[in-house]
Amino acid sequence: GAPELRTATGTEVDAKPDARAQHETYLTTSTGARLRDTDHSLKAGERGPTLLQDHHLREKITHFDHERIPERVVHARGAGAHGVFVGYGNADSVCKATFLREGVETPTFVRFSTVLGSRGSADTVRDTRGFATKFYTSEGNFDLVGNNIPVFFIQDGIKFPDVIHAGKPHPDREIPQAQSAHDTFWDFVSLHTEAQHHTMWNMSDRGIPRSYRTMEGFGVHTFRVENDAGDTSLVKFHWKPRLGVHSLTWEEAQLLGGIDPDFHRRDLYDAIESGAYPAYELGLQVFPDNPEQVFGDIDLLDPTKIVPEELAPVQPVGLMVLTANPTNFFAETEQVAFHVGHLVPGIDATDDPLVQARLFSYVDTQLSRLGGPNFNQLPVNRPHTEVNDMFRDGFHQHAVHAGVAPYKPNSLDGGCPFHAGADLEGSFEHLPAKVAAGTKVRAQPASFDDHFSQVRQFWLSMSPVEQEHIIRAYTFELGKCYEQVIKERQLQCLANIDARLCSEVATGLGLPAPQPSIELVDLDPSPALSQVGEAWPPD
Ligand code: HEM
Repeated sequence: GAPELRTATGTEVDAKPDARAQHETYLTTSTGARLRDTDHSLKAGERGPTLLQDHHLREKITHFDHERIPERVVHARGAGAHGVFVGYGNADSVCKATFLREGVETPTFVRFSTVLGSRGSADTVRDTRGFATKFYTSEGNFDLVGNNIPVFFIQDGIKFPDVIHAGKPHPDREIPQAQSAHDTFWDFVSLHTEAQHHTMWNMSDRGIPRSYRTMEGFGVHTFRVENDAGDTSLVKFHWKPRLGVHSLTWEEAQLLGGIDPDFHRRDLYDAIESGAYPAYELGLQVFPDNPEQVFGDIDLLDPTKIVPEELAPVQPVGLMVLTANPTNFFAETEQVAFHVGHLVPGIDATDDPLVQARLFSYVDTQLSRLGGPNFNQLPVNRPHTEVNDMFRDGFHQHAVHAGVAPYKPNSLDGGCPFHAGADLEGSFEHLPAKVAAGTKVRAQPASFDDHFSQVRQFWLSMSPVEQEHIIRAYTFELGKCYEQVIKERQLQCLANIDARLCSEVATGLGLPAPQPSIELVDLDPSPALSQVGEAWPPD
């Protein structure tokens, strides 16, 4: 037989290499040769030039030279944590996803982020925050890729590159690094007035959260869910922090940006290390499925609209507790790859034109960010289920696939063993939904045209102190614009929201306050709409 292999300590060498690198006692090259010296390069004499043959020097420097990968095109700065989600079981009546069943424990990984700043930017800037959760469910990964603001800037994903180009630093000066205080941002949101709702949330205290532990999360889009009986409903996902929602004051945010630019990252890490585990309840707003995909007057496919909680209460369906920090920031927080298309049986996307574009964008960007098509094999992305796909090869392929070529049906060597078919229990299926028929057209429905009434509703729902903060935020951020025409156009938008808001910001900017160009509508959140979301399970 083969001679026994021994390590330096005399223990048997494992036939499989240990996946945990860098935990043994002696130093090696990346191919396992032990090294005596990693501090001196190989030279022609003590004072001579370095020799090209020094393969350890070359390997060490070359690997270092390639350590960086591209940062995310948006949401580049973030902090992550591991957690566990436990379902309450009350969602069964609308959604059959196993992770929502009573008592089912599902590991999660969450990444919180800012949107506009680069990887090294400050945490406390005024911006939207990402709240992306990967559930490693027994039916495959479910990713809820949300934000801390329930609406989005645009109604159609085809404008996403445009809104991000407007929000990112100016191409010539590369400023401002991480804030919305500049001409192109205000130019975009005052011309694409659908952005006014999201912008007002940004100007409110929601734009400067106190902590990731005190932030809500929103799936934003409407999703379609199905129960065991095959009945479908439309839902919106919400995360509610156990600690409540809290913001910084603007002055605190400014000071912290200088004193501790890592404030949110540090807060999350320290809280978890000290056992003060952040907790969030997952909740659903549930609406009857209907061919128009509306709820009363609200178009559920328009991601610039909310459904007030007075009309459709958020019903808690489970609790997530974040219990562990990442071991390695790069391996986990940086390499995690979320995707709105990671869905599990019982949950499906809708025809919201924003989510439709997202369904394409995430994998596409990760192909270049993570260097090829095999990033789902990375530990943080790997589902906690069997993976029997029929994919092969590609950069960074870690699997050693055995057997014949993977195609089905396949009559060679027992064929491709994976079973698929209508009889396969627990398989993912897109939920049956009628597609609105029509002529191919680049257009949107008239129901997407109201860009102001919900912004006014948000403004009117604020307390006097919150309104004061909003006025100051608009005044400060618009005050950074160089172009007067942009300030004037945004003031026109404010006039279409509320006269006092407009006149106070105008005074702060030293400009006249315009008259509204539309009729102002006061929405009454309580009785007006024809349908009211039902609490469930029904009595
Ligand atoms: C990244 C949320 C709209 C493209 C992210 C992340 C979040 C997020 C939380 C960070 C993920 C992470 O931590 O790794 C949202 C929300 C949206 C939205 C809530 C609207 C409701 C869009 C749209 C597009 C898009 C419309 C494109 C059409 C991207 C891209 C990334 C990203 C390319 C970087 C992903 C990566 O490199 O891993 N988004 N996003 N997003 N989002 Fe979105």
